Amino acid sequence: MKIGIASDHGGFELKEYLKEYLKKSGIEVSDFGTNSEEPVDYPIYGERCARAVANGEVERGVVCCGTGIGISIAANKVAGIRCALCTDENMARLSRQHNNANVLALGGRTTSNEDAQKILDAWLITEFEGGRHQRRIDMIDNIK
Ligand code: RB5
Repeated sequence: MKIGIASDHGGFELKEYLKEYLKKSGIEVSDFGTNSEEPVDYPIYGERCARAVANGEVERGVVCCGTGIGISIAANKVAGIRCALCTDENMARLSRQHNNANVLALGGRTTSNEDAQKILDAWLITEFEGGRHQRRIDMIDNIK
């Protein structure tokens, strides 16, 4: 699986931590920035990673800002993106099982690196359940 990853300055340290963790786990990672703690605007990075998921350049994305809120809102503006802000492993599992989330958002100022790693692990291994959940996702796609 190829994963895209992006952050603003508030999520930079967490992004770097998760990027190294994914690489050590043998997962290919594309980094869409930012590349330092210099203040930047999270919509730019949320959109970059989301577009890479939407066009198939990467299979899934991970986006980080201070809270995970702003960058998840930005990512969800891209058609076909289902970005879920998760603060625990249960949310991560449910975002895959029920929502087929293709982008995970995390908060670098609200979630520790260790907790984020556990959330990411749960999110990566959990499969979408389909069935009635697919119908609801189709309904989301039809909201214009
Ligand atoms: C940046 O200061 C901060 O607003 C951003 O990282 C994020 O938390 C926005 O939702």
